[in-house]
Amino acid sequence: MQELLKLNHVSTAFNSRNGLVKAVCDVNMTVSSGQIVGLVGETGCGKSVLGQSILRLLPSSAVTSGEIIFEGRDLAQMDDKQIRSVRGRRIAYINQNPSEALNPVLKIGTQLLESLRVCGGLSQKEAKVRAVDLLRSLSFEDPEDIMKKYPLELSGGMKQRALTAMAMCGTPPFLIADEPTKGLDALIRGQVIESLEKFISITGCAAIIITHDLKFANTICDTLALMYAGEIVEFGSTGKLFSAPKHPYLSALKASMPQNGMHVLKGNSCSLIDMPEGCRFADRCGKACEKCRREHPELRPVAEDHMVRCWQYD
Ligand SMILES: Nc1ncnc2c1ncn2[C@@H]1O[C@H](COP(=O)(O)OP(=O)(O)OP(=O)(O)O)[C@@H](O)[C@H]1O
Ligand code: SF4
Ligand SMILES: [Mg+2]
Repeated sequence: MQELLKLNHVSTAFNSRNGLVKAVCDVNMTVSSGQIVGLVGETGCGKSVLGQSILRLLPSSAVTSGEIIFEGRDLAQMDDKQIRSVRGRRIAYINQNPSEALNPVLKIGTQLLESLRVCGGLSQKEAKVRAVDLLRSLSFEDPEDIMKKYPLELSGGMKQRALTAMAMCGTPPFLIADEPTKGLDALIRGQVIESLEKFISITGCAAIIITHDLKFANTICDTLALMYAGEIVEFGSTGKLFSAPKHPYLSALKASMPQNGMHVLKGNSCSLIDMPEGCRFADRCGKACEKCRREHPELRPVAEDHMVRCWQYD
């Protein structure tokens, strides 16, 4: 498979009053054409910041370093005009916070038609038909009515779906979808997943799907990247990670799934300002030893297509 996106030593930190918040630390990852990578992990572990770092959507307090090679060009080195031409057209993006992404003073229909215009190739009449089809495929019962509404008139879940429709306007080779099923009830959630799966299979795009939902990740992703406190701690094929999780954090997350008895993982993630010297998971890990607290483990291969950051597998 052809390599589409390559992250080389990507780190992002925020300047804050309390110090430097190291939200993403030294991420190395390759996504090939057609590959669907799930970015999973608890709240605050850096999933959204990593997604936004790729498209350079972060505020000026953020400092990103490393290379973000997409289709052979480094996105980190592009000027504003160049990166704007990548957003939407080459990399579609579904923001975790639709209220931030939707323009509050424009009707949903206007914004959707504009996205279709940017992606090109359709007359105004064809674009309207396509917009209605897209909204219907995302379980809006009355798409014409939704087109006439302002974002403020929609619920959080509806806004999320409207944003998903906008991301689906073109045929981009890459999609970054941040929590596309957030705030949806079970029925609509299933329909949105089906629609996303259809979009991915029709366009053949590669994707990074950011989600809390391990079950969803297991359904849609062929590869998983598990993040903890800003770094990837386990990476590999979804099948291997689910059947034989190696990192104690992944085992704990699996045990917390409803079908596995909902055993809650106790404790909180470490500070992103004062990072521990050793393993970042040590305070919550039943297998932590002296070395774990002293030395920081690297992400190492444990099998083909399977990397783990844990001293147990050194
Ligand atoms: N603008 C900012 N300034 C300072 N810190 C920030 C900023 N944006 C994010 N952070 C911090 O970066 C860390 C990672 O945040 P991020 O939004 O990536 O988490 P996440 O994994 O997406 O969580 P969730 O699952 O809740 O969406 C968090 O500690 C967050 O507080
Ligand atoms: S390195 Fe040590 S503390 Fe960290 S996950 Fe592995 S066993 Fe647990
Ligand atoms: Mg997030």
